[in-house]
Formats: sequence, structure tokens, C-alpha cells
Amino acid sequence: MRVAVIHGPNLNMLGEREPEIYGSQTLTDINAEIMRAASELRLEVRCAQFNSEGDIIGALHSARVEADAVVLNPGAYAHYSYAIADAISAIGLPVIEVHLSNTQAREVFRRTSVVAPACTGSISGLGSQSYLLALRALAAL
Ligand code: DQA
Repeated sequence: MRVAVIHGPNLNMLGEREPEIYGSQTLTDINAEIMRAASELRLEVRCAQFNSEGDIIGALHSARVEADAVVLNPGAYAHYSYAIADAISAIGLPVIEVHLSNTQAREVFRRTSVVAPACTGSISGLGSQSYLLALRALAAL
């Protein structure tokens, strides 16, 4: 199974960005963990990070032909991007929404995910484990 892991805006800043919320791991560290889990689960995984909404939508469209499933951390776009929600619905692949932080335990605006209804499932609040659990779920689906 081929899985596209898509990291959204500001996740390139991990390690420096609000470490009390997001931890000290960099995106490179998280991608290394993802690749280790991928080989254990025998998944073919590609990771990419995009800051702009259009680039995320483009990556979702490409996943339609290049992947069998998607793990997506939409960052703040989760809370308001109907365009990303539409792209998830359009591609017809299993998509798991992940967040490092527990979005339900933070500001009110983070408690809503407009992409969640288009996704197969959502995992939040478990740091890098959110991604690893999403991969495990896809391998089992
Ligand atoms: C995030 C949560 C979002 O609310 C926030 O805007 C992010 C990161 C997370 O992984 O916890 O950029 O998606």
C-alpha cells in the first residue's frame, strides 16, 4: 500500500515552534519515525510538507494516482478550509486527519475541523504517535 503523508502549514517550524505545545521533535525527526514505522508495516510512504492551501490540494489530487491512502495534518486549515475538505471528498481515497496537539483542549476555534467529515478518521493529541497510529490503521483497513 502506498501512503502519502502530507504535512500542512507551519509544520516545517517544528522543533522551534511553541515547543510547549508541539514538543521538541523537528519535522525531520517525525519523518524518520514515520519511515521506520512504514518499513515495519510494509507500507510505501512518501512525506511532503506544504505551507499553502493550493499546494495541499494539489498534493491530494496527485495522491489520487500516486497513492492508495493519505495521512494529512492540515494544520490550521483543518479549522476553515472547505476547499481541502472538498479535495478530500473528490479523491475518493481513505484519508486520516492527524494533529500533534489535542485540538479539543486548546482555543475554541481549534475544536472544529471542517475536514473531519470528509475523512475516514481523525487522530489528535498524541504527538508523532498520531501519525504512526494513522499508518497502523491504514495498514489494517
Ligand atoms: C496542528 C493543530 C492546528 O490547530 C495548528 O494550527 C497547527 C498544528 C497540530 O498538529 O496539532 O498548525 O495541526
